[in-house]
Amino acid sequence: MKIAVAKGDGIGPEIMDAVLSIFSANKVDLEYEFVEMGKWVFDKGHSNGMTPAAQASIEQLGILFKGPMETPKGKGVKSINVTARKTWNTYANKRTFQTLHGVDTVFSKAGIPIDITIVRENIEDTYGGIEHMLTHDVALSRRFITRPGSMQVIRYAFEMAQKKGARRITCGHKANIMKLTDGLFLECFYEVAKEYPDLTADDKIVDDLAMQLVVRPDQFDVVVMTNLQGDIISDLCAGLVGGLGFAPSANIGDHISIFEAVHGTAPDIAGKGIANPTALLLSGLGLLRHLGFRENAAIIENALLYTLEQGVRTGDFGDRSKPSVNTAEFTQAIIGNFGRVPEVGMRPILENVHESLAVCRLEHNTMMVSKEASDEKIVGVDVFIESAEGHDAVAKKCLQHTADLFKLVTISNRGTQVWPKGSVYTNLVNQYACRFEAVGGSGVTQIDIIELQKRLIQDFKVCSIELLNQWDGKLAYSLAQGQ
Ligand code: NAI
Repeated sequence: MKIAVAKGDGIGPEIMDAVLSIFSANKVDLEYEFVEMGKWVFDKGHSNGMTPAAQASIEQLGILFKGPMETPKGKGVKSINVTARKTWNTYANKRTFQTLHGVDTVFSKAGIPIDITIVRENIEDTYGGIEHMLTHDVALSRRFITRPGSMQVIRYAFEMAQKKGARRITCGHKANIMKLTDGLFLECFYEVAKEYPDLTADDKIVDDLAMQLVVRPDQFDVVVMTNLQGDIISDLCAGLVGGLGFAPSANIGDHISIFEAVHGTAPDIAGKGIANPTALLLSGLGLLRHLGFRENAAIIENALLYTLEQGVRTGDFGDRSKPSVNTAEFTQAIIGNFGRVPEVGMRPILENVHESLAVCRLEHNTMMVSKEASDEKIVGVDVFIESAEGHDAVAKKCLQHTADLFKLVTISNRGTQVWPKGSVYTNLVNQYACRFEAVGGSGVTQIDIIELQKRLIQDFKVCSIELLNQWDGKLAYSLAQGQ
């Protein structure tokens, strides 16, 4: 069995070499194809941070084990880590956070055990990086949450929770504010929950979730979330179990999966030989289990836990009154402890893990359409215009252009209604959203909207427009604050 390996930048090669030497000492029957990815590949002129040969190998082998990689700073360069996850549709980011005996935290000292798996949607949300300056003062980011994308990751989370024997699965969200985007994610969650009656499915608003995780982390089991919120909450969870040095991550897709540590390239300690390889090793153990090497995974993990329990530590964690070891010594200690088991938290060989290798070649892109409306009409348009005038002046100009088909119903600024009613205390920026609704409820055509736009550009710069859709009698847009 062969997998692609990219050592990464900064401490990447040091910790990857450590992990691969542990695999080799345990006779893990894997072959590695080392591929070219990382900062130095950007520097060679490959704008996505990987060579075409690396991309071809990864697509052929289906598994990438990668060290952390640096994204060159500056505009126009996208993160290679995000590009890899998105290009290969590794839609579920799974991060497991467990109490590790020997890694002291406030919770381990208080005897509160932690075993939380965060499943974060990995493709959508603001991570599309679709951003525009609408005026010199106003930047806009588009946040995509889709039904098929949400269903994919939520289904994965439920399936994983069930196989893991979890008692509870929680959806973290902000649907009280983002009613359409997070609302859609939450709706998908409860739709999938119906298929898993044995699991207790509930939801928590993300701010409350953050607080509860810090106060009572042991009440959570599996938590599924959208991309950005999941990113933040998973780092919070890393903090609960001792920091990023103990946080493994798997990016799971139907065809390609990527295993990596959560932390970055640690430029401050790169090349010193003192980095902690634990997070990458834990990610590697996820990889071994994914490929069916359960016995190797259990032996290595028990040796790691035993080593931690003995107080062996790299400089970034543990009891500071005891001397630390370097990466090579830490690695040798783990290898020397093969066959030993920790006093607390021993890992069994035959675990109930659900991942299985599902590499199959694709000939073309998969189109995912899950739902279409039967009765669809356009009932208006939001026109985003640039203007440094007051809202009354903007409204006066808009009203001249509405003609017979449209009525101006509201003008908002940063999502807060300022016309026809508003407050003098609302600060304004030079960009308004003017909402025009179709007169009479019969709907309008896209040509009608272009005609309206043509009239409006006589007075304003139109930055962008959004259609106001109505599907099966339901509004497919949000109301402005105060509308
Ligand atoms: P970082 O995670 O590299 O470092 C944060 C702090 O944690 C530093 O003090 C570092 O020394 C320490 N640290 C991290 N991993 C460690 C380890 N294994 N052993 C001991 N100490 C460790 O985060 P930072 O500084 O924000 O990012 C540095 C670079 O890494 C950036 O270019 C960033 O884009 C990249 N990065 C890459 C990721 C990936 O490849 N998946 C993820 C996060 C960041």
